[in-house]
Amino acid sequence: MSATLTFNQQRLFKQARSLQEKQNLIVVVKNNAYNFGMERAYKVFYKAGIRSYATTNLEEAVWLRKQDDQITVLLLDPSTEFDVLREHDISLTLPNVAFYHQYKEHLEGIKIHLVFKNLLNRFGFDTAEEMKAIFDDQFLTITGIWTHFAFADELSDERYEIEKENWSNVLTVLEPYLDTLTFIHAQNSASYLREGLFDQHTHIRAGAIAYGARPYYDLPESLASQTIEVSASVKEVVFVPKGQSAGYSAAFVAEEDTLLAICDIGYGNGILRTRSKHEVIINHKSFPIAVLMMSHLMVKVDASVTIGNRVYLYNDALKLDDFAHKGVGAFSEQMATLNHQTFKINDIPLSE
Ligand SMILES: Cc1ncc(COP(=O)(O)O)c(C=O)c1O
Repeated sequence: MSATLTFNQQRLFKQARSLQEKQNLIVVVKNNAYNFGMERAYKVFYKAGIRSYATTNLEEAVWLRKQDDQITVLLLDPSTEFDVLREHDISLTLPNVAFYHQYKEHLEGIKIHLVFKNLLNRFGFDTAEEMKAIFDDQFLTITGIWTHFAFADELSDERYEIEKENWSNVLTVLEPYLDTLTFIHAQNSASYLREGLFDQHTHIRAGAIAYGARPYYDLPESLASQTIEVSASVKEVVFVPKGQSAGYSAAFVAEEDTLLAICDIGYGNGILRTRSKHEVIINHKSFPIAVLMMSHLMVKVDASVTIGNRVYLYNDALKLDDFAHKGVGAFSEQMATLNHQTFKINDIPLSE
């Protein structure tokens, strides 16, 4: 197995620390910490000074609590596992009025964040007044409120202004209660990088930028340094004469005499099919991908490429955020599919 997935913990640390030094983060660690690996990411984020963690998954939340009894662990999705939540001091997102009325009695002793639905239309209260009624009831231990913008990453979409306005109205209606809250959070990476931390807010709730990816393309590259690398090796170089094909069902047909490097990585490793529309790098030179198979990649190369050379699919010159801009898939999508079990994992650890 020579397909290699490298996690650069030193860079992750620098990235996270430089954010946390500017304002408090709730770092989003759902999906195995954006597939960086929960354990590895948690250690780095903690060392970088981050003390608040959010996930959608209860098992991940419990795991986080077991690492430290002082951190804040927020479950972003609703859950009815009230005993587990209470026992592990996991803050729960209250998703709507109906949930409140149905489970009110079970919520005693659990810290609650109210979520405003806004234009994302995933979970959440429909109106500020509904949220205020829960506060007025004075039954729950409410420690936070939040929303999530559906359009913050779309720079030209005016609906971001609408969702900001909606949220600002929520803050106005809840004004009498804001002082009682430890967490007021709305901004993901893009929203924060566009405008800094909003007034009255205590935290940003960041994913992509904490893991070293620019959420949109116009940002300076210096804002984020890529924290992973994916490479494999050239196992064979084959000559395909003009007119002949290679791959299943003639996936590649040679329009001219062609050299193909056969590399030991494929979609089985979690490389997105859309990634194969773009180049790889071998010996500092770019080459186009001809065919992406389950365990192999065929790359159109020249005579400089030989067996044993490394082929790079992601590195400092082949960035996940650039590929997101080119339509390969969001940063999180490219990360989420990487299949750890199929890679040799290489960690660049934090120095002690
Ligand atoms: C509720 C919530 N908050 C924050 C984030 C982080 O977003 P980003 O990775 O764009 O910073 C996500 C990511 O999906 C999310 O679902």
